[in-house]
Order: sequence, then structure tokens, then C-alpha cells
Amino acid sequence: MSDKQIRIFDTTLRDGEQAPGCSMTLSEKLRVAKALSELKVDVIEAGFPAASPGDFESVKAIAERNFGPIICGLARCTAGDIEKVYEAVKSADRHRIHVFVATSAIHREHKLKMAKEEIIKSAVGAIKMARELVDDVEFSPEDASRTELSYLAEVVSAAIEAGATTVNIPDTVGYTVPAEFDRLFRYLGEHVANIDDIILSVHCHDDLGMAVANSLAAVNAGARQIECTINGIGERAGNCSLEEAVMAIKTRAEFFGLETGIDTTRLYPTSRLVSNITGMHTPRNKAIVGENAFAHEAGIHQHGMLQHASTYEIMRPEDVGLSRSNLVMGKHSGRHAFRNRVAELGFELDEFETNRAFQEFKKLADKKKDVYDGDIEAIIMNADSASSGPWTLKSLEVQTHTDQPATAAITLIGEDGDDKTESAHGDGPVAAAFLALEQATGVQITLKNFELHSASIGEDAQGEVTVTVEYDGESYRGRGTSVDIVEAGCRACLEVMNRILRRKQYGSSGPGRPTPEQATI
Ligand code: KIV
Ligand code: ZN
Repeated sequence: MSDKQIRIFDTTLRDGEQAPGCSMTLSEKLRVAKALSELKVDVIEAGFPAASPGDFESVKAIAERNFGPIICGLARCTAGDIEKVYEAVKSADRHRIHVFVATSAIHREHKLKMAKEEIIKSAVGAIKMARELVDDVEFSPEDASRTELSYLAEVVSAAIEAGATTVNIPDTVGYTVPAEFDRLFRYLGEHVANIDDIILSVHCHDDLGMAVANSLAAVNAGARQIECTINGIGERAGNCSLEEAVMAIKTRAEFFGLETGIDTTRLYPTSRLVSNITGMHTPRNKAIVGENAFAHEAGIHQHGMLQHASTYEIMRPEDVGLSRSNLVMGKHSGRHAFRNRVAELGFELDEFETNRAFQEFKKLADKKKDVYDGDIEAIIMNADSASSGPWTLKSLEVQTHTDQPATAAITLIGEDGDDKTESAHGDGPVAAAFLALEQATGVQITLKNFELHSASIGEDAQGEVTVTVEYDGESYRGRGTSVDIVEAGCRACLEVMNRILRRKQYGSSGPGRPTPEQATI
């Protein structure tokens, strides 16, 4: 690789997935890993195999698919962790073990209770062990940005001597600022004799809103790998956003003189996939992938745009995979147009999935005049969950009144084809309907979170509901869509209840479906 090439190390499935509310099932992780490979990231950090059996299985499953990018797993500096990563990643043609240990005084004294020399010894031992298993070993001194510079240089130098091939510098708590991080990277460049033997990497968190700026400062000062996540999801305020860092390097190529191998036209579809799967919706004004990122409202801007797009546009929407027209479809749109739009939105559906989605599209087009991209995405994202029983929603009736409890009557169809009807009262229509669902399915849940999002625009837009519920000490997330928001909530809740019932019946989520750990969030 040329010295101008920035490697993109995506940690959506590890640091991103670790964030509350962002957990994914095995099949969701596989979809994200495939999308990341189509985006052409260089490395996929697929998980932390020692964290749980589910994490181990998902890293292994991703490695077995051999999507193309290097598959990496995270390990503490222990033999057990390192062996687990090796077992999980070894089937990928290209694989990496990533070991880390904290180095800052705060972590040394309060978390690890280890002296400086002990930490170096532990890192060196772990790197050597990992190098006996694989050729590609990354080392991270956690909380590097708050570590004494001279000690950090000592640790980095020892890591390189022990055989690390990439050394990553994390700003674990999102504390640094660009000018300071620039100094840190230049200091390492000047004080670590063997620094040119490895790829220097950067890993930033966004606690002060500077993860992207700090990562760019680091590459400007010599880093050649950026660790980042789709939509910037991650612990607390999140990680460096992949799409922002990549588009900054591309759009300001004359400043950075650097490039990435990313197919930027896949940025928007990948961002939508991750937000649809995690239920973490990007703000409208989010750079690069937000709904308003390329919308020009002010008259003076629109006038300028009509004269010449470059007056107010520094990137073309097409470059990030956003088509200029949010093409409106309706009940007269045919299968061919639908299939084309689905492909333009970045989905690859087989014949069966296309037919199923087209039928849903036709049903929706009967209910609402205009069907937008968001509606089509919602149909596709919900297809899997909607088709997995044992229960299917047949009908829902709700009654609300300002000073009386709401009532809901629900009819479900079971696997045997029989109907079951239950009704209940509640503080509102959602509470009443959920209670009726509990009675009908026999699954008692505790609702932890209910999020409603509009899938497209207009009064008849579909409501997309994501629920997080607790059952038997475990957390589950479900998603449902409908032009009726109470129905969307019921579909989301029923999706979770069905998953719980399948687990009970099969001892897992069902034949060919994720194991219990993977099915939970
Ligand atoms: O933020 C951090 O320090 C990390 C390391 C494990 C790389 O995620
Ligand atoms: Zn991190």
C-alpha cells in the first residue's frame, strides 16, 4: 500500500455494538459485515470473543464467510482471550488479533493496580503470544491520550519490538483536542526509533464532539489507519464516524494528500442499514448521511444551486450513494420499477424476497398515496421479523377517550391456523394493546423503551416503532412498521414475543436461527 493510503478499520461490530441499545443478532451482524465488505473497509473488528459465547460465535461466523476484509477480534492481554480470538478469526483468509492494555496513570492506579513495568511486560508477553498464532497483531495502549508521553513512547517501542504490526493510539475517553493529538503523534514519530516498521493507527471517542477532528489531526501527523464506526455509534457519545472521516479525506484531498479505498457510494446505504438494524436513527442534520445533509431550503441557496451546484455544495449526493430524487412510487408502480428502486437503495434481494417485499409494497400503496424510499426500506427491514411465527397479527381494534382508560382487542393467528382474541384496558392505547398481546401469547414482558420514528414524510407516513423489553432478566429489541402507530408498536412487541416463544420451544431462537445469546441484545 502506498504511504498515502489510509486504512479504514471499522469497529461498528465491536466498539459500536458495545453501546447501549446497539446490540445486534447474529444475522444482523452478518448483514452489517457483508455491507462493510461492499463498502470496502480494510479491517472489520467483528467483536470481542472472550466477552460472551455469543460474541465468540458471531466473530467466528463472520470469519467463516470470508467477506474479503481482514477480520479482527479484540483481546485483553491474557492467554485465554488471545486463544479465543484466534479460534474465532482463524478461518478468514486474512485475520488479525488486537490486544490492549491500559497505560495511563489513572488506569494503572485505579483499575489495573499495576506498575508501569508490569504493564509493559504484560503487553509484550501478549503480543509475542499472539504473533506465535498469527502474523497480523495490533496493539492498543488504552487511554493513550492521557498517558505520560515518554512512557507511551516506551510502551509503543516495546510493543513494536515484541512483534506488533499495527499500533493503535486510542483517545478512550474523548478527552484530547486536535492540536494536542497532533503533538502526540509527532512526538511518537520523533521518539520511537522503530515507528516506521508498523502502521500507526488512531481510535477516537466523541465525548467532546471531536472524534473526527482528532482522527484527522492524527492522520495529518502520520497515522495511516483510522478506527471508526458507521454513523459514529459507540460507547457513550460514540466513536469517530466512518462516513465523516472518509468524506473529509476525499473532499479535502488537496489538503490531506491522502486517500482511502472506500467505495463512497455505499456510505448512505450502509448508514441506513446500521440505523435500521440498531434503531439508532441519525439526526436529520448529521453530516454526510443525515436526511438534510444535501437539502437546500433557503431561497438564496436554492438560487445559487440552480446556477451552479458548487456554490453551496462541496460534495455531490451521488458520491455518498444518495440519489438526488427521493423518487416517489405509488400503486401504479410496477414490479420492474420497484426492483430497480430496491437495488438503488443498496439492497440485494433474491426472487423470493423481492416478491414478498413487492406484495407488501402493493398493500402499503393501497393505504397511502405516495411511497417513499424510507417506506421501502421499512418494508424490507421488517420482512424477516414479520414472517417468523408462532403468532401473526390478524386484527387490532383500539378505543381511546380523554378521561377513560383505553381499550384494545387483539386477534392473533397461531401456527395451527386458529384465531385467538384477547382484550384489555390500559393507560393508553399502547399499554392496552401490549397487555392484550401478553394475555394472548402468555409472554409477560417489561417494556423498557418505546421509540417512534417516521419512516418517510407526510401525514400518512409509516410509523416505525422500536421497542426494548426485558424478559427473564434479558433484554430484547423488536421493530415494527405500519401507517397506524399503535399497530406498529404491536408488531414490534409481537416480534419479541415470538422470539421468546421460539427460544422456549427450540432451546434457541429456532432451527437455523441465532443462538439465545445472539438473539438477545
Ligand atoms: O476506546 C478504546 O480505548 C478501545 C480500545 C480497546 C482500542 O476501544
Ligand atoms: Zn473505543
